[in-house]
Amino acid sequence: MASAHLFFTCLITCSMFLSHAANQKVTLSLYYDSLSTNCSTFIVKNLAKIFDDDLITILNLRLVPWGDAYANKSNNNTTFCQNGPDECKLNSLEACAIDVMQDVNKHFALIYCIEFLAIEGRHKEWETCFSSLGLPQKPILDCYNSSNATKLEQTYGNETMHLNPPLKFVPWVVLNNQPIGNDYENFAAYVCKAYRGNIVPTACQSVHLKQKTE
Ligand SMILES: *[C@@H]1O[C@H](CO)[C@@H](O)[C@H](O)[C@H]1NC(C)=O
Ligand SMILES: *[C@@H]1O[C@H](CO)[C@@H](O)[C@H](O)[C@H]1NC(C)=O
Ligand SMILES: *[C@@H]1O[C@H](CO)[C@@H](O)[C@H](O)[C@H]1NC(C)=O
Ligand SMILES: *[C@@H]1O[C@H](CO)[C@@H](O)[C@H](O)[C@H]1NC(C)=O
Ligand SMILES: *[C@@H]1O[C@H](CO)[C@@H](O)[C@H](O)[C@H]1NC(C)=O
Ligand SMILES: *[C@@H]1O[C@H](CO)[C@@H](O)[C@H](O)[C@H]1NC(C)=O
Ligand SMILES: *[C@@H]1O[C@H](CO)[C@@H](O)[C@H](O)[C@H]1NC(C)=O
Repeated sequence: MASAHLFFTCLITCSMFLSHAANQKVTLSLYYDSLSTNCSTFIVKNLAKIFDDDLITILNLRLVPWGDAYANKSNNNTTFCQNGPDECKLNSLEACAIDVMQDVNKHFALIYCIEFLAIEGRHKEWETCFSSLGLPQKPILDCYNSSNATKLEQTYGNETMHLNPPLKFVPWVVLNNQPIGNDYENFAAYVCKAYRGNIVPTACQSVHLKQKTE
């Protein structure tokens, strides 16, 4: 009985605590192009670190693969991408990965793999990422080959084109609706500054230390 009581008390208070903590997360939206070198480098060299330390615990990470692309409405709504048609394809594929695998650990792993190949000039080998990561290829390709991919990209394009303040370049990092502009490589310090929760992650303790000693 006592343990059942404890269980239900925890069910209520712990879930309140967890949802409170979830509300205090900082939303980081990354607007990017799949084949822009600066975007690939940012994802692989900088952003991926949030999964190595514990910064991800205070982040709601949103990846928005559209970047500088634009739709030409008078030409059957064709999308043009800064780095060519392969970029449009990979933007769609990454949009499908996010839609099909809602778990950020999984879709980030796939996107990281593709962007890593892109840095090495091997983006055409993107299909190898599914087998190397053990992620299911079929549901993502089904999305990619369906009108869902077009819809997802239209939604991302619309969101990107309505940004206020507007996107100036990629990668464009927005924290709780505030863009951080040129200083995007230092995003972790901005995340820690924007965070209002009590449970300070280790990643933020070291960021504060760095600021103090520098
Ligand atoms: C990539 O970043 C560098 C350094 O910030 C910048 O000088 C360059 O213009 C950027 N390239 C593109 C294509 O935006
Ligand atoms: C849009 O497509 C039309 C028809 O192909 C073309 O004439 C026009 O130049 C395109 N506009 C842009 C901005 O690419
Ligand atoms: C636009 O789409 C229609 C119907 O799918 C097709 O008949 C037409 O050739 C397309 N035009 C261009 C410029 O691709
Ligand atoms: C392009 O898409 C918009 C909305 O997504 C739609 O209203 C319009 O009819 C489409 N144009 C063509 C040529 O398919
Ligand atoms: C397309 O999206 C709908 C709604 O989210 C989903 O039910 C359906 O399974 C998706 N289809 C594919 C092929 O991904
Ligand atoms: C979907 O597209 C990919 C890449 O273009 C292709 O390899 C695959 O065979 C397609 N799958 C289906 C089910 O059409
Ligand atoms: C486009 O984005 C704006 C601003 O975020 C939103 O109000 C609008 O509903 C969106 N339109 C579509 C078609 O998704």
